[in-house]
Amino acid sequence: MARITAGVSTSHVPAIGAALDLGKSAEPYWAPVFQGYDFSKRWIAEEKPDVVFLVYNDHASAFSLDLIPTFAIGCGEEFKPADEGFGARPVPVVHGHPELAWHITQSVIQDDFDLTIVNKMDVDHGLTVPLSLMFGQPDAWPCKVIPFAVNVVQYPPPSGARCYALGKAIGKAIRSFDQDLNVQIWGTGGMSHQLQGPRAGLINQEFDNKFLDLLINDPDAAARIPHLDYVREAGSEGIELVMWLIMRGALEANVDLLHRFYHVPASNTAVGHLILKNGG
Ligand code: DHB
Ligand code: FE
Repeated sequence: MARITAGVSTSHVPAIGAALDLGKSAEPYWAPVFQGYDFSKRWIAEEKPDVVFLVYNDHASAFSLDLIPTFAIGCGEEFKPADEGFGARPVPVVHGHPELAWHITQSVIQDDFDLTIVNKMDVDHGLTVPLSLMFGQPDAWPCKVIPFAVNVVQYPPPSGARCYALGKAIGKAIRSFDQDLNVQIWGTGGMSHQLQGPRAGLINQEFDNKFLDLLINDPDAAARIPHLDYVREAGSEGIELVMWLIMRGALEANVDLLHRFYHVPASNTAVGHLILKNGG
């Protein structure tokens, strides 16, 4: 059977992708950000996951105001990097795992979560920057990736509680897949940031660190945080953090904290990163 071996969470700032792509990662501004992922790159090279189930948000790249799925699962064979206005990032095409993705889709929909099935979409910095942070700059991504897009861009976003419950259904689905696969689940986006309006630039280190503590040790309490608290405390784009609860819901209650990193700022964003070994 498939095993969920670990959960990974990480922020996804587009400027991090640009710093890598333009060879600026050793510059003094960026070096401390990338250092936070040195352990992670070594760790994942040894873990060699077969599949990453990657929870992320699209930023009006594949979707637009024409069509806004709350939860969309990528069931296709491949997903190309999106052109976000400056040409596509020079990163490999993402290869999916249609068989596992369809299995998860069937299981989760029959558990009463209404997913949108996507066979064709381009993936933006929300998905490619976490891959770059964890795997560096390979010619091909070393594992299959199932993209799972969550609407946190157009109001109303799903609640943290809904995301946490969905994570539990996804975990159950993965564990019932009849192939011996090493699967990781990643929750991405966040941490506190606001890109617009009079509060642009908002960062809340106290909220972020409390969220990390709760996510690790008391995820039920983290799941009870109302969506307005994210917006008020972590900024309008801080709501991206609900995606981390999908990751946490798919893991067991007990986890082993392998790595925790927090850095302020990267571009407009507080960067947070966790690696949780499933089962503790
Ligand atoms: C920034 C952060 C984001 O999450 C995003 O999607 C776009 C920009 C930023 O920090 O600039
Ligand atoms: Fe974002």
